[in-house]
Amino acid sequence: MIQKPKGTRDLLPTESYRWQEAERKVKEVLESYNFKEIRVPVFEYTELFQRGVGETTDVVQKEMYTFDDKGGRSITLRPEGTAGVVRAYLENGMGSMPSPVKLWYNMGMYRYENVQKGRLREFHQIGAELIGSSSYLADVDVILMANQIFKALNIPNIQLNINSIGCPKCRSEYQKKLREFIGKNLDSYCDTCKTRFEKNPMRILDCKEKRCKEFNVGAPMMIDYLCDECKEHFEKVKESLTALNVKFEIDSGIVRGLDYYTKTVFEFIDGDSGLTVLGGGRYDGLVQEFGGQPTPAVGFATGVERLMEMYNVNNPDAEEKKVDLYILSLGNEESKKAFEISEKLRSQNLKIERDIFERSFKAQMKYADKIGARNLLVIGEEELKTNSAKIKNMATGEEKEVSLNADEIKNLL
Ligand code: HAM
Repeated sequence: MIQKPKGTRDLLPTESYRWQEAERKVKEVLESYNFKEIRVPVFEYTELFQRGVGETTDVVQKEMYTFDDKGGRSITLRPEGTAGVVRAYLENGMGSMPSPVKLWYNMGMYRYENVQKGRLREFHQIGAELIGSSSYLADVDVILMANQIFKALNIPNIQLNINSIGCPKCRSEYQKKLREFIGKNLDSYCDTCKTRFEKNPMRILDCKEKRCKEFNVGAPMMIDYLCDECKEHFEKVKESLTALNVKFEIDSGIVRGLDYYTKTVFEFIDGDSGLTVLGGGRYDGLVQEFGGQPTPAVGFATGVERLMEMYNVNNPDAEEKKVDLYILSLGNEESKKAFEISEKLRSQNLKIERDIFERSFKAQMKYADKIGARNLLVIGEEELKTNSAKIKNMATGEEKEVSLNADEIKNLL
């Protein structure tokens, strides 16, 4: 039997209803902040991610699903959403829309990663991008919205960590200091780190290799080298969060794995697994990097599989909506009546099941019971003749007489 590729999963009906429920709650939060949904292609030209995410990131260097299409163009399955969304923002002239432009998405992402708990090769992200505002207020709004997602999903055990990684102006001074520190042991770092030393030493702080991590202990931190503007911006973000009673910690070790970040970065950590369930930050240079006018932006994405782990732990009782009515029918004419009634009720958003096997009375009863139908209506010869039947509440056993009329039946469900 052919099996699914490593790092992918099947989402089965036993779980998909929970996803739908959580996705609906998250969507309600995003829309309450007036974010609007965007969908972008699953593949883009490779250059988009090389330029957007950054040549020296793990994502670009090691994790992209890249191939040449039949026309010889290099194509990459999207490893993240921000680059594609910003491309779409520019390509569709969204810069002329009222600013800020607030977009959200729920899309599959593809990264060739070492598969382990919480780390898949196909995974999903719900993300939000606020494009146009450079104010600290936008950072705060977006962090509040992320925080609200965990509240809406009844997930209490979550830790918000924030940091500032400055702007290109303050970063050059910092990079000098960082090179001095790393340079002392450069020979002992992994080969990837060595290639990053000149181009982008901050990426070395993000290396997952054990020996590199050990050498990184005590490295200078960007937060100590912020320019006045970045410092003030970060102070205001912190002040606002404190005033709003949003608990956070400053983690000067957050560098994020993508190159486009500037100033505020943040991560929400699962208190049980220690995994980052949501990550984001400001990316003031990306729109310009893709050829647009200088346009500040801030956003985040949450890994839906990781989010669902937490949702399931904290909402164990969430149940799928049961079938409202099972219509048991015997014989051709009775079956036609059952179709007539079920179609009317289904068009009113009720969940109706009926026999499509020509099964026996007993077999239909058994099935209605197995699927946990809330009510049962039996249409036999007698019922058809008198145009009236009994509707039974399966939980209480209570029976009520009803005419074979969809509206009347609906009132009893
Ligand atoms: P990221 O930190 O690379 O950021 O990913 C965001 C979230 O996606 C992570 O915190 C994690 O929950 C989930 N995730 C990442 N990789 C995997 C994986 N292999 N398996 C399962 N879940 C995973 C971004 O992608 C940015 N585009 C976020 C952003 C939007 N920043 C600004 N706007």
